[in-house]
Amino acid sequence: MEAIKLNKLVDEELQQHHEKVAELSFLISKEMQLDNNVCNKIYAAALEHDLGKIFLNQEVLNKPRKLNKKEYEYIKNHVLLSVSYLNSKKTDIDTVKYVLYHHENYDGTGYPVGLKGSKIPLGARILRIADTFAALTVDRVYRKKLSIKKALSIMDSEKKFYDLEIYSLFKKIIKNKEVL
Ligand SMILES: [Fe+2]
Repeated sequence: MEAIKLNKLVDEELQQHHEKVAELSFLISKEMQLDNNVCNKIYAAALEHDLGKIFLNQEVLNKPRKLNKKEYEYIKNHVLLSVSYLNSKKTDIDTVKYVLYHHENYDGTGYPVGLKGSKIPLGARILRIADTFAALTVDRVYRKKLSIKKALSIMDSEKKFYDLEIYSLFKKIIKNKEVL
């Protein structure tokens, strides 16, 4: 697999996103008192979860408007592309699973499989929350970054997508710590 040549900005944005999600996921994992080994696997997954995006058409990926249905379906491919890439590097199987399921929703409406509730690996449920928050609180081509308050209010309105125990813990962390 060969990644298309990226411009520096795309590369930097992706890296910054990965680092932010890794930082937030690690805070959650620690707060949940997960085993160190598990925390590290979640951290590793967060650092590479969207890597598949570098194999996608960058014009579609960075379209400054809302994606149409076909484009949205196309972007979904990034998950399996990330997984193929990680498998080709012989990445730890749990780490790969967290990446594979990072867009699954707790109510079963996510992708690529539509797993529901506790069937979604814990690491992926953590990533789902950290990923959304990180994406909302950064400048994007189609909008300015949202305040923490606004981001959390959007996430509150989509609560059904998240593991509520993890989500309420996450909100406590955000409110108690200066993480941004
Ligand atoms: Fe993703």
